[in-house]
Amino acid sequence: MKLLFINGVNLNLTGKRETGVYGSKTLEEINKAIAAHFADDECEFYQSNCEGDICTKLQSAVCDGIILNAGAFTHYSYAIRDAIAAIKIPVVEVHMSNVHAREEFRHKSVLSEVCRGVILGFGENSYILAGESFKL
Ligand code: DQA
Repeated sequence: MKLLFINGVNLNLTGKRETGVYGSKTLEEINKAIAAHFADDECEFYQSNCEGDICTKLQSAVCDGIILNAGAFTHYSYAIRDAIAAIKIPVVEVHMSNVHAREEFRHKSVLSEVCRGVILGFGENSYILAGESFKL
């Protein structure tokens, strides 16, 4: 199975920003742990701070499932929402933090409605749980 993990805006700072919320592991370290967990599968990792680049990546994806942590884009990007709706590959929305236990603006996702499901609140394991969902 080929899984594509996409991280959006500011996720490149994971391990350095708000470590009390997102932990102290860097995105590279998290991606290594994910790749080790899915050792029998093919994993691709992509991160961008640019909304349009994430849309382009979604449009050109060739894989069995996409795990997407769009970061703050989650809460307002109709462009990413439309890109998810435009493709046939299922997308699972992911958040490391429990966004519902945080500021009100984080309670709203414009992506959830067009995603297969949502996993949130389990730190780096949110990515692994989302990837596992494609095996059910
Ligand atoms: C996040 C939650 C978002 O609200 C925030 O903007 C992020 C990270 C998470 O993984 O918990 O950048 O997607």
